[in-house]
Amino acid sequence: MRSGKFFAYLRIMSNTILIGAQWGDEGKGKIIDVLTADADVIVRSQGGNNAGHTVIHRGKTYILHLIPSGILRRNKVCVIGNGVVIDPIALVDEIVGLRDLGVTIHRNLLISDAAHLVLPYHRALDEQRELRKGRARIGTTKRGIGPAYGDKAARTGLRISDVIQPSLFSKKLEGKIRENNAILRALGAKPIDFDEVNESYLAAGQTLAPYVTNTVVYLRRALQRGREILFEGAQGTFLDIDHGTYPYVTSSNTTAGGACTGTGVPPHRMDRVVGVMKAYTTRVGEGPLPTEDARVTKMLHEMGREFGATTGRARRCGWFDAVVTRYATMINGIDELAITNLDGLDNVDPISICVGYRLNGKPLDVPPCDSTQWINCEPVYETVRGWKQSTRSARKISQLPKLARDYVSRISQLTGAKLSIVSVGPTRAETIVV
Ligand code: GDP
Ligand code: IMO
Ligand code: MG
Repeated sequence: MRSGKFFAYLRIMSNTILIGAQWGDEGKGKIIDVLTADADVIVRSQGGNNAGHTVIHRGKTYILHLIPSGILRRNKVCVIGNGVVIDPIALVDEIVGLRDLGVTIHRNLLISDAAHLVLPYHRALDEQRELRKGRARIGTTKRGIGPAYGDKAARTGLRISDVIQPSLFSKKLEGKIRENNAILRALGAKPIDFDEVNESYLAAGQTLAPYVTNTVVYLRRALQRGREILFEGAQGTFLDIDHGTYPYVTSSNTTAGGACTGTGVPPHRMDRVVGVMKAYTTRVGEGPLPTEDARVTKMLHEMGREFGATTGRARRCGWFDAVVTRYATMINGIDELAITNLDGLDNVDPISICVGYRLNGKPLDVPPCDSTQWINCEPVYETVRGWKQSTRSARKISQLPKLARDYVSRISQLTGAKLSIVSVGPTRAETIVV
């Protein structure tokens, strides 16, 4: 794959929203890295450091949590939008970690002043809530994401604009710590030390201050100058707070609409939605996964694949589920598909594809609202023959084995969107533009 091809491809793409069409970890980082070649600005609009986006660049593996994956390329501006929740200590660590690996972070990173903060009491509450749920736990990343978005919705959150103003921040923090310590004590958890948090957050605030700005205004100007913007989704469609497998979801809108609310870029400026999906299905954490299959999980884990980029947890794996990807196309308005990890199925024969569900004997072609019902859905499978050979060296669709070509066209047909990219390995070169 040469970037020239993407140049031609992206000239007609303009502003692109990239989202995960499953339960996260679809390979968004890799596809963002590919598409970034011809974008000018890369923006995160939601989520926090629960995300882990893997990019392999010049032989080094980078895992990005809060910083858009475009940061690895020169002359790109990366923006963390207002819809992201930021743990400032984690963000400073990420900046330092990337610099240590030789990545330049200077004027190429902008942070929204309106983004909400994740504070230590959010992490403590996340942990406590999970503990108390026992077997009904969500399996969160314990990064404090739910409680931070909870404070935002309750209008009791602190924002980046607060942490860069020391006296204002300390005053607000004191009240918040008092209130949250009462809750933590009642739960039997360790209270948070005000001085420690105040000092470390103010120091992080000072480090981040040069990057902080009104990113809405920046993005508006970038659009006026004809810059192309790539919106980097985090998590995936079925972790969306409104459309996902509630309550086994994250706390933000991971679907395409989140790119507007989380950045302040209006809907009519969005030109295209790219949905990224694996050639099979994975999920990390609890909740419905109708096509989960112990043999698929075992095979992928034995290949050393499908361990979480953020928490290292083993991902649950299963067959491709077209009920969810079709629904993802509906919710996000997916125009184009990027299918990743096709090579994960190189040694599998036969291959099952879930084309529908049955619930209490009745056929369903969209997922039910209720998670318990979703868990009880039985997949209806269609079986196809596997290609049983490596796809890793294919660089054109014609170089894929015929059965692999048939497989990707079948899953795109079932999903209902045009196939644009097939990924056959984790590196940038291992990419086929269709
Ligand atoms: P993200 O959160 O959507 O960015 O995905 P993650 O980075 O958490 O997980 C995707 C994993 O698949 C990472 O280890 C990637 O390096 C890897 N990956 C992405 N595309 C491919 C592919 O086509 N083949 C293989 N073998 N690995 C891939
Ligand atoms: P990327 O961007 C996969 C999952 C967690 C848990 C649920 C809620 O790398 O695709 P949270 O900590 O957000 O409250 O956890 O969501 N989860 C992810 N799963 N990829 C992610 O991000 C995820 N971010 C959160 O495992 O099930
Ligand atoms: Mg990930």
